Amino acid sequence: MEIIVCKDYDKMSKAAAAEVAMVVREKPDAVLGLATGSSPIGLYAELIRLHKEEGLDFSQVRTFNLDEYIGLPPEHEQSYRQFMNEKLFDDINIRKKNTHLPDGMAKNVRAFCAEYESMIEACGGIDVQVLGIGSDGHIGFNEPGSSLASRTRVKTLTEQTINDNSRFFAKKEDVPIYAITMGIGTIMEAERIVLVAAGKNKAGTVAAAFEGPVSCMCTASALQLHPDSIIFIDEAAASGLKMRDYYDWVQSNKAKAPK
Ligand code: GLP
Repeated sequence: MEIIVCKDYDKMSKAAAAEVAMVVREKPDAVLGLATGSSPIGLYAELIRLHKEEGLDFSQVRTFNLDEYIGLPPEHEQSYRQFMNEKLFDDINIRKKNTHLPDGMAKNVRAFCAEYESMIEACGGIDVQVLGIGSDGHIGFNEPGSSLASRTRVKTLTEQTINDNSRFFAKKEDVPIYAITMGIGTIMEAERIVLVAAGKNKAGTVAAAFEGPVSCMCTASALQLHPDSIIFIDEAAASGLKMRDYYDWVQSNKAKAPK
């Protein structure tokens, strides 16, 4: 697990996007795992810039999003499908048919979840998974208490998450209380993980997730068991970390480190 502290949100977004772009350049038909929320918006903006200004090619890229609210059709303005179209897909040369999100309107949710897992497997698995982190330490919608071996399934959102996400809806009552999310076990199978977190309100969560115990009470802590995860955070989100100086020391000596 590598923790990289960046000066601000913009630098964090660019550094994280560079990791994703590298995978796409190395493997033009890469499978990307994608996240919603405010944290990765800058990362997506940088991928758009790399596409428009440097020709980063997404024509063969496949994507799978972590989660979707149950009960919101794809055209709903707060659906994660709309979010992805607006923040990334509409501005790069990806084929929409290659972009996948859980179906929040699936009639048989259990069957859909199994099918989603099979689709990821059929594509050869996720090459790089982008993650944010919720204030209760969730990744995707894997709320506290989620099994660290869980697969794609329905989760009931915590009140904290509903409150956090109500800022995007007209009123709190409009926030769906159920979502389909990839499980922690699903996420952990990605070849590489890139997590972004910014802002003072994430400082305690980041410290708990990456310097605290591995626990289902903070599901992002499972990344401690992943062999190739990079945590990009800004100064504010790093402010609760005990080993902060060491992380900077590692980065300043990285170029000279034995390969
Ligand atoms: C939602 C998403 C998560 C995301 C989280 C944090 O709950 N399901 O994938 O990480 O929000 O959002 P933000 O980045 O806006 O803080």
